[in-house]
Amino acid sequence: MIENFEKRILCIGAGYVGGPTMAVIAQKCPQYKVTVVDINPDRIARWNSEKLPIYEPGLDDVVREARGRNLFFSTDIEEGIRESDIIFVSVNTPTKTFGAGAGMAADLQYWEKTARQIRECSGSPKIIVEKSTLPVKTAQAMKRILLASDKKNHFEVLSNPEFLAEGTAVQDLEKPDRVLIGSDETVSGLKARNDLVEVYANWVDRDRILTTNIWSSELSKLVSNAFLAQKISSINAISALCEKTDADVSEVARAVGMDDRLGPRFLNASVGFGGSCFKKDILNLVYLCRYYGLFEVADYWESVVRINDYQKNRFVFNMLACMFNTLATKKICLFGFAFKADTGDTRESPAIFISRKLVEEKAELIITDPEALENAKTDLQDIEGAVRYELDPYAAAEGSDAIAIMTEWKLYSDLDYERIYQSMVKPAFIFDGRNILDHRRLFDIGFNVYPIGKPPLTHFDDQPEICQE
Ligand code: NAD
Ligand code: UDX
Repeated sequence: MIENFEKRILCIGAGYVGGPTMAVIAQKCPQYKVTVVDINPDRIARWNSEKLPIYEPGLDDVVREARGRNLFFSTDIEEGIRESDIIFVSVNTPTKTFGAGAGMAADLQYWEKTARQIRECSGSPKIIVEKSTLPVKTAQAMKRILLASDKKNHFEVLSNPEFLAEGTAVQDLEKPDRVLIGSDETVSGLKARNDLVEVYANWVDRDRILTTNIWSSELSKLVSNAFLAQKISSINAISALCEKTDADVSEVARAVGMDDRLGPRFLNASVGFGGSCFKKDILNLVYLCRYYGLFEVADYWESVVRINDYQKNRFVFNMLACMFNTLATKKICLFGFAFKADTGDTRESPAIFISRKLVEEKAELIITDPEALENAKTDLQDIEGAVRYELDPYAAAEGSDAIAIMTEWKLYSDLDYERIYQSMVKPAFIFDGRNILDHRRLFDIGFNVYPIGKPPLTHFDDQPEICQE
């Protein structure tokens, strides 16, 4: 078959970023051939099936429109590299778990293997695009690897970090706040940058396509995530103070967020932030700061993660104290396990930490979630005897002593809590880790209600004094 595509784009890594990003590029640019490859054959098989490997609203339609037309998923990485003009690298860059920088630095082994493979399989000049989130200065290492070859292919390395959030990935990709492209400021660097601008300009307004030098681009990604997470840790820190002072964190957030300079978003107090990015990217930033001797700066950003850990711990201590200081043999039902609504992803979900803590207290857990049960089972396989999984939230809550809201799925606000209350052990408790329920109504039904950062509504005469580790 003769293919008449204007450009051939390859993406290495068919994960939460590579899959949706390439699907949207293919949908918006039918004149380009877009291929996504991965070392994981199961993942590729699912991208080629009716049940995609990730749940993301709107994604099925985008994939259905482009797959087989100009969007392809394959395990043939070498062929993909050979035939492409532009290669996005979107492999995972988790926190290192071993050796120097363990628990802090980014583990770059997957990324480096990719760079070497690109070098070995390329027979023509390529533009290499860093899509993964990487420590600043990684492009320099990439160039050194790519150029350490007898073959004299020209490689231009660009940084084009991804800002999509899970659960809204398709709309974030279709209407991004900005697209950031960093390059070397050489003639060939600027030309490559321009080639990538032209790809995005197929559907993104040019004034939203931001071009910078390559180091600013790499660093901006880490900083964006650090600022977002810092906003959440700030309101979560204040939620603890609200609980001591009878202030209401939602009212405080509203008052603060109406200041245009601060803005209302990312001020929802919660059981803590999760997801594969925030903690990893902040720790990466902290590691970089320490590496460059900026210890005060490192400590400042590390405190964002510390407050998040504190918030998760606080939630469990609160449950323990409010339920008469013992959870042994009590049945606790977790509503939600995903790290946020509208995704099945559970990476770094606060629900993982809270489940483990509750099981340490010898509670019996029932976990329900519309999309994340498969991942939850994998996350908690080492404590499987203590956990039951139930898709139906009514069945999950039946016979339990307490419900804890872990994920802000809309369906949890719409349930019949009268019916749920009737089926539970009394006194019945609700710990709303996302402040999404109608607390007054729940109290009127008979529940003892414990929101985040608001006075509890209980049918007891006095409130327990919560001691913390
Ligand atoms: P992911 O784990 O879902 O996907 C990464 C994929 O890369 C996996 O399927 C893995 O099998 C594949 N892979 C690893 N090594 C490979 C190799 N040598 N050759 C081919 N495939 C290989 O990760 P993700 O969530 O898509 O994140 C990818 C990158 O994007 C990370 O750097 C992350 O920080 C960044 N990012 C993620 C998000 C998000 O919301 N998940 C948002 C913005 C940026
Ligand atoms: C984040 C960034 O938003 C995105 O730009 C980047 O590309 C990847 O990392 P993501 O982790 O997918 O995206 O979701 P996000 O909406 O940022 O939520 C992260 C966590 O913070 C979730 O656990 C969420 O529930 C929590 N959160 C968010 C709060 O607790 N309160 C808020 O007000 C907002």
